Amino acid sequence: MNFRTIIEPFRIKSVEAVKFTRGEERQTALREAGYNVFGLRAEDVLIDLLTDSGTGAMSAAQWGAIMVGDESYAGSRSFYRFERVVKDLTGFAHVIPTHQGRAAERILFHTALKPGDIVPNNSHFDTTRANIEVERAEARDLVIREGRIPSYLHPFKGNVDLEALEVLLERDGPRVPLVMVTVTNNSGGGQPVSLENLRGVRALCDRFGKPLFLDACRFAENAFFVKLREQGQSSRTPREIAREMFALADGCTMSAKKDGLANIGGFLALNNSEWAAQARNLLILTEGFPTYGGLAGYDLEAIATGLEEVLDEPYLRYRIRSVEYLGDKLVAADIPIIQPAGGHAIYIDARALLPQVPPLEYPGIALVNALYVEAGVRAVEIGTVMFGQHPDGTESPAAMDLVRLAIPRRVYTQSHIDYVAEGVIEVGRLRRSLRGYRIVEAPRLLRHFTARFEPL
Ligand code: F0G
Repeated sequence: MNFRTIIEPFRIKSVEAVKFTRGEERQTALREAGYNVFGLRAEDVLIDLLTDSGTGAMSAAQWGAIMVGDESYAGSRSFYRFERVVKDLTGFAHVIPTHQGRAAERILFHTALKPGDIVPNNSHFDTTRANIEVERAEARDLVIREGRIPSYLHPFKGNVDLEALEVLLERDGPRVPLVMVTVTNNSGGGQPVSLENLRGVRALCDRFGKPLFLDACRFAENAFFVKLREQGQSSRTPREIAREMFALADGCTMSAKKDGLANIGGFLALNNSEWAAQARNLLILTEGFPTYGGLAGYDLEAIATGLEEVLDEPYLRYRIRSVEYLGDKLVAADIPIIQPAGGHAIYIDARALLPQVPPLEYPGIALVNALYVEAGVRAVEIGTVMFGQHPDGTESPAAMDLVRLAIPRRVYTQSHIDYVAEGVIEVGRLRRSLRGYRIVEAPRLLRHFTARFEPL
């Protein structure tokens, strides 16, 4: 018999209770948080979809590996295991552990960039962009046009616009020290990049003599999308596909808080020995000695085991399907989302859902807050509050006003997701009664974390 139901590919042996609150209690908590869900106590959240980063559940094997972590300052056995696992997966010559992804970005860009340089990418994540801009270089997004239209169906909406990349390399080649591709493309809706597109980027990098780096946070989810959607790939294992993705590149930055299935950690891996030597010197300055790089020995063990587990096919099938399952329910209820569903998250088009709330009254915040008050679910605005602020103090609407429901790995079951769908659909029913917000207090940079709001 061919079963249709895709079950969670694990049993649960350790649980954590969630706290149920009443609507009035959530209303009070939200008011005290300045109507910004980043200010809530996590205890007051029933289902937390703020991020899929560092929020996953570790396996019994990972907890077991933690107990045998070697905490030696230099030359720890756990480092050599971690290094072996990363090299076996990526094939890169040098593996440099960091405390999380942005530390790898900081070290790579401080090594490779000078003022005036340009780094192309499909879409830069906000920390990637910030770490490029702090070197007084430019982060340029070159995702395909289809990737910018929320309702447009395309199997690889994370693909790089190869023509635009070619034009950039022809015109400004000397200013481009490296090319990046983010797999999957988080800022563009968790959308995958095809092997064919990566080969196209590689060919351009070869022609212009540029190194290619992957932002590999969600490499396993990307590999599984390739297996599902790309011609000729269905009989390969996710590991074979992932190895080919890495083999097309010269290095990567990685946040192990995503597809490393760990709560903290990351790495920079690369082939260029000169850059690696400089990066290790920077690492010692701010992270730690090259065989631990800001992590405990037990973290290195948890990541090594996580990197082995994440390519398991039943896990990836469940992972990609369970996110799509939420997307299907919302689409069936006419909630506008980025389609197709992303690998780690569903992105609701708040501007389309709440046309009565103009972008500068923050439709994303209106939707996030209503979802918290109605259902106790915490999502995150990815829109005008996050991207609309300019260094000169002015603001303008972001390209899109999205609300992201990011699904932590191996944490919530199908009934949790059914509940989330019910909550979103209920808020959809109330949409005409929702009003916008105004900002009463905000820092000059990265305001989305700490801004305080007032309902209009
Ligand atoms: N690159 C991408 C594509 C990411 O999504 C993230 C983090 C980073 C780099 C930075 O990694 O957090 O370990 O320093 N994304 C999280 C999110 C925070 O919620 O999407 P980090």
